[in-house]
Amino acid sequence: MGRDVIIACDFNSKEEVINFLSKFKDEKPFVKIGMELFYAEGPEIVRTIKKMGHKIFLDLKLHDIPNTVKKSMAVLSGLDVDMCNVHAAGTKAMMQGALEGLTRPDGTRPLLIAVTQLTSTSEEVMQEELWIEHPIDETVMHYAKNTMEAGLDGVVCSPLEAGKVHEVCGEKFFTITPGVRFADGDVGDQKRVTTPAKAKELGSDYIVVGRPITQAEDPVAAYRRCVAEFVG
Ligand code: C5P
Repeated sequence: MGRDVIIACDFNSKEEVINFLSKFKDEKPFVKIGMELFYAEGPEIVRTIKKMGHKIFLDLKLHDIPNTVKKSMAVLSGLDVDMCNVHAAGTKAMMQGALEGLTRPDGTRPLLIAVTQLTSTSEEVMQEELWIEHPIDETVMHYAKNTMEAGLDGVVCSPLEAGKVHEVCGEKFFTITPGVRFADGDVGDQKRVTTPAKAKELGSDYIVVGRPITQAEDPVAAYRRCVAEFVG
Protein backbone atom coordinates (compact mmCIF):
# COMPACT_ATOMS: atom_id res chain seq x y z
CA MET A 1 0.00 0.00 0.00
CA GLY A 2 1.34 3.43 -0.89
CA ARG A 3 0.70 6.97 0.23
CA ASP A 4 -3.02 7.48 0.92
CA VAL A 5 -5.64 9.67 2.59
CA ILE A 6 -7.59 7.98 5.42
CA ILE A 7 -10.92 9.56 6.39
CA ALA A 8 -11.56 9.55 10.17
CA CYS A 9 -15.22 8.50 10.31
CA ASP A 10 -15.90 9.86 13.78
CA PHE A 11 -19.63 9.19 13.75
CA ASN A 12 -21.55 7.34 16.47
CA SER A 13 -24.15 5.50 14.42
CA LYS A 14 -24.30 3.18 11.46
CA GLU A 15 -26.86 5.40 9.80
CA GLU A 16 -24.61 8.46 9.87
CA VAL A 17 -21.51 6.69 8.60
CA ILE A 18 -23.33 4.85 5.80
CA ASN A 19 -25.06 8.07 4.78
CA PHE A 20 -21.66 9.78 4.66
CA LEU A 21 -19.90 7.03 2.70
CA SER A 22 -22.77 6.75 0.24
CA LYS A 23 -21.81 10.18 -1.11
CA PHE A 24 -18.71 8.58 -2.64
CA LYS A 25 -19.81 7.11 -5.97
CA ASP A 26 -16.58 7.05 -7.99
CA GLU A 27 -14.02 6.25 -5.33
CA LYS A 28 -13.73 4.05 -2.23
CA PRO A 29 -11.75 5.99 0.37
CA PHE A 30 -9.67 4.29 3.07
CA VAL A 31 -11.63 4.91 6.30
CA LYS A 32 -10.71 4.98 9.99
CA ILE A 33 -13.22 3.48 12.42
CA GLY A 34 -12.59 4.48 16.01
CA MET A 35 -13.76 3.29 19.41
CA GLU A 36 -16.90 5.43 19.39
CA LEU A 37 -18.42 3.82 16.30
CA PHE A 38 -17.07 0.34 17.07
CA TYR A 39 -18.47 0.34 20.60
CA ALA A 40 -21.79 1.75 19.39
CA GLU A 41 -22.31 -0.64 16.50
CA GLY A 42 -20.02 -3.63 17.13
CA PRO A 43 -18.02 -5.68 14.60
CA GLU A 44 -20.93 -5.73 12.16
CA ILE A 45 -20.17 -2.13 11.16
CA VAL A 46 -16.69 -3.24 10.08
CA ARG A 47 -18.13 -6.04 7.94
CA THR A 48 -20.68 -3.69 6.40
CA ILE A 49 -18.13 -1.01 5.44
CA LYS A 50 -15.72 -3.66 4.20
CA LYS A 51 -18.49 -5.09 1.98
CA MET A 52 -19.00 -1.61 0.54
CA GLY A 53 -15.43 -1.91 -0.78
CA HIS A 54 -13.51 0.37 1.61
CA LYS A 55 -10.15 -0.31 3.23
CA ILE A 56 -10.41 0.00 7.01
CA PHE A 57 -8.06 1.27 9.70
CA LEU A 58 -9.60 -0.02 12.94
CA ASP A 59 -8.34 2.43 15.56
CA LEU A 60 -8.91 0.60 18.86
CA LYS A 61 -5.46 1.23 20.42
CA LEU A 62 -5.12 -2.06 22.30
CA HIS A 63 -3.08 -2.07 25.53
CA ASP A 64 -3.21 -5.11 27.85
CA ILE A 65 -1.09 -8.15 28.75
CA PRO A 66 0.55 -9.78 25.69
CA ASN A 67 -1.67 -12.88 25.76
CA THR A 68 -4.93 -10.88 25.82
CA VAL A 69 -3.75 -8.57 23.04
CA LYS A 70 -2.60 -11.55 20.94
CA LYS A 71 -6.00 -13.26 21.21
CA SER A 72 -7.92 -10.04 20.58
CA MET A 73 -5.83 -9.32 17.50
CA ALA A 74 -6.64 -12.80 16.17
CA VAL A 75 -10.32 -11.82 16.36
CA LEU A 76 -9.66 -8.53 14.56
CA SER A 77 -7.67 -10.21 11.77
CA GLY A 78 -10.76 -12.36 11.14
CA LEU A 79 -12.69 -9.12 10.54
CA ASP A 80 -10.43 -8.53 7.53
CA VAL A 81 -9.41 -4.98 8.44
CA ASP A 82 -6.43 -3.45 6.60
CA MET A 83 -4.76 -1.65 9.50
CA CYS A 84 -5.08 -1.73 13.29
CA ASN A 85 -3.12 -0.45 16.25
CA VAL A 86 -1.81 -0.81 19.79
CA HIS A 87 -0.13 1.42 22.37
CA ALA A 88 3.67 1.17 22.20
CA ALA A 89 3.61 1.67 26.00
CA GLY A 90 2.29 -1.91 26.24
CA THR A 91 5.90 -3.10 25.67
CA LYS A 92 7.70 -4.90 22.85
CA ALA A 93 6.42 -8.25 24.17
CA MET A 94 2.85 -7.00 23.84
CA MET A 95 3.50 -5.66 20.33
CA GLN A 96 5.06 -8.97 19.29
CA GLY A 97 2.04 -10.78 20.74
CA ALA A 98 -0.21 -8.48 18.72
CA LEU A 99 1.71 -9.30 15.52
CA GLU A 100 1.46 -13.03 16.15
CA GLY A 101 -2.25 -12.85 16.86
CA LEU A 102 -2.87 -10.77 13.77
CA THR A 103 -1.03 -13.09 11.38
CA ARG A 104 -3.44 -15.43 9.58
CA PRO A 105 -2.65 -19.10 8.90
CA ASP A 106 -1.65 -18.17 5.31
CA GLY A 107 0.94 -15.67 6.62
CA THR A 108 -0.99 -12.54 5.58
CA ARG A 109 -2.00 -9.89 8.10
CA PRO A 110 -3.31 -6.32 8.34
CA LEU A 111 -0.76 -3.54 8.85
CA LEU A 112 -0.02 -3.02 12.53
CA ILE A 113 1.01 0.35 13.87
CA ALA A 114 1.56 1.81 17.33
CA VAL A 115 0.60 4.96 19.16
CA THR A 116 3.70 6.45 20.86
CA GLN A 117 2.56 9.17 23.28
CA LEU A 118 -0.94 10.52 22.77
CA THR A 119 -0.79 14.15 21.65
CA SER A 120 -3.18 14.96 24.48
CA THR A 121 -0.40 14.11 26.97
CA SER A 122 1.87 17.07 27.67
CA GLU A 123 5.52 16.76 28.66
CA GLU A 124 4.59 18.14 32.09
CA VAL A 125 1.95 15.45 32.70
CA MET A 126 4.24 12.75 31.30
CA GLN A 127 7.00 13.70 33.73
CA GLU A 128 5.08 14.74 36.83
CA GLU A 129 2.09 12.40 36.72
CA LEU A 130 3.36 9.39 34.79
CA TRP A 131 6.93 9.68 36.08
CA ILE A 132 8.49 9.32 32.63
CA GLU A 133 11.48 11.57 33.06
CA HIS A 134 12.82 11.88 29.50
CA PRO A 135 11.79 14.77 27.23
CA ILE A 136 8.63 13.95 25.28
CA ASP A 137 10.27 14.11 21.81
CA GLU A 138 12.94 11.62 22.93
CA THR A 139 10.26 9.37 24.42
CA VAL A 140 8.28 9.42 21.17
CA MET A 141 11.37 8.44 19.15
CA HIS A 142 12.31 5.75 21.66
CA TYR A 143 8.81 4.25 21.48
CA ALA A 144 8.97 4.41 17.66
CA LYS A 145 12.25 2.47 17.78
CA ASN A 146 10.70 -0.12 20.14
CA THR A 147 7.80 -0.42 17.69
CA MET A 148 10.18 -1.06 14.79
CA GLU A 149 12.22 -3.56 16.81
CA ALA A 150 9.04 -5.45 17.68
CA GLY A 151 8.47 -5.84 13.93
CA LEU A 152 5.47 -3.53 13.49
CA ASP A 153 4.89 -1.46 10.37
CA GLY A 154 4.82 2.09 11.69
CA VAL A 155 3.55 4.67 14.17
CA VAL A 156 0.92 7.36 14.47
CA CYS A 157 2.67 10.71 14.84
CA SER A 158 2.47 14.37 13.92
CA PRO A 159 3.53 15.17 10.33
CA LEU A 160 6.13 17.39 12.00
CA GLU A 161 7.72 14.23 13.50
CA ALA A 162 7.50 12.11 10.34
CA GLY A 163 10.98 13.00 9.04
CA LYS A 164 12.67 12.22 12.34
CA VAL A 165 10.77 8.91 12.67
CA HIS A 166 12.01 7.93 9.20
CA GLU A 167 15.56 8.90 10.19
CA VAL A 168 15.41 6.72 13.29
CA CYS A 169 13.35 3.81 11.94
CA GLY A 170 14.03 3.87 8.18
CA GLU A 171 12.11 5.01 5.13
CA LYS A 172 10.02 1.86 4.93
CA PHE A 173 8.58 2.37 8.41
CA PHE A 174 5.18 4.04 8.00
CA THR A 175 4.13 7.33 9.54
CA ILE A 176 0.38 7.79 9.91
CA THR A 177 -0.34 11.41 10.66
CA PRO A 178 -3.45 13.24 11.91
CA GLY A 179 -3.59 17.00 12.48
CA VAL A 180 -4.14 17.90 8.83
CA ARG A 181 -6.01 21.02 7.73
CA PHE A 182 -6.45 22.89 4.45
CA ALA A 183 -4.56 26.17 4.28
CA ASP A 184 -7.87 28.07 4.20
CA GLY A 185 -9.76 25.78 6.64
CA ASP A 186 -10.78 25.74 10.31
CA VAL A 187 -8.16 24.41 12.74
CA GLY A 188 -10.75 23.32 15.35
CA ASP A 189 -9.20 21.80 18.49
CA GLN A 190 -6.00 20.60 16.77
CA LYS A 191 -2.92 22.45 17.97
CA ARG A 192 -0.13 21.77 15.49
CA VAL A 193 -1.54 21.37 12.00
CA THR A 194 -0.11 20.99 8.51
CA THR A 195 -1.72 21.02 5.08
CA PRO A 196 -1.92 17.79 3.03
CA ALA A 197 0.78 19.17 0.68
CA LYS A 198 3.09 19.98 3.61
CA ALA A 199 2.48 16.52 5.14
CA LYS A 200 3.62 15.00 1.83
CA GLU A 201 6.73 17.19 1.80
CA LEU A 202 7.51 16.16 5.41
CA GLY A 203 7.34 12.47 4.50
CA SER A 204 3.98 11.27 5.91
CA ASP A 205 2.88 7.96 4.42
CA TYR A 206 -0.81 8.22 5.37
CA ILE A 207 -2.72 11.28 6.51
CA VAL A 208 -5.78 10.84 8.74
CA VAL A 209 -8.30 13.57 7.98
CA GLY A 210 -11.60 13.92 9.81
CA ARG A 211 -13.60 17.11 10.05
CA PRO A 212 -12.08 18.92 7.03
CA ILE A 213 -13.81 16.17 4.99
CA THR A 214 -16.70 14.92 7.16
CA GLN A 215 -17.97 18.43 7.98
CA ALA A 216 -17.34 19.92 4.54
CA GLU A 217 -20.26 21.19 2.50
CA ASP A 218 -19.07 18.90 -0.28
CA PRO A 219 -17.17 15.99 1.36
CA VAL A 220 -16.34 14.33 -1.97
CA ALA A 221 -14.73 17.54 -3.27
CA ALA A 222 -12.82 17.97 0.02
CA TYR A 223 -11.57 14.37 -0.16
CA ARG A 224 -10.46 14.88 -3.78
CA ARG A 225 -8.63 18.05 -2.80
CA CYS A 226 -6.80 16.12 -0.06
CA VAL A 227 -5.84 13.36 -2.46
CA ALA A 228 -4.69 15.88 -5.10
CA GLU A 229 -2.51 17.72 -2.57
CA PHE A 230 -1.16 14.65 -0.75
CA VAL A 231 -0.91 11.90 -3.34
CA GLY A 232 -0.54 14.23 -6.35
O1 C5P B 1 -11.27 15.84 12.64
P1 C5P B 1 -9.78 15.66 12.66
O2 C5P B 1 -9.13 15.80 11.30
O3 C5P B 1 -9.09 16.51 13.72
O4 C5P B 1 -9.62 14.12 13.07
C1 C5P B 1 -8.36 13.55 13.33
C2 C5P B 1 -8.54 12.12 13.76
O5 C5P B 1 -7.28 11.60 14.16
C3 C5P B 1 -9.49 11.90 14.94
O6 C5P B 1 -10.11 10.64 14.76
C4 C5P B 1 -8.55 11.89 16.11
O7 C5P B 1 -9.06 11.16 17.20
C5 C5P B 1 -7.32 11.21 15.52
N1 C5P B 1 -6.06 11.49 16.20
C6 C5P B 1 -5.56 12.77 16.39
N2 C5P B 1 -4.37 12.97 17.02
C7 C5P B 1 -3.67 11.92 17.48
C8 C5P B 1 -4.14 10.61 17.30
C9 C5P B 1 -5.36 10.44 16.65
O8 C5P B 1 -6.18 13.73 15.95
N3 C5P B 1 -2.50 12.11 18.04
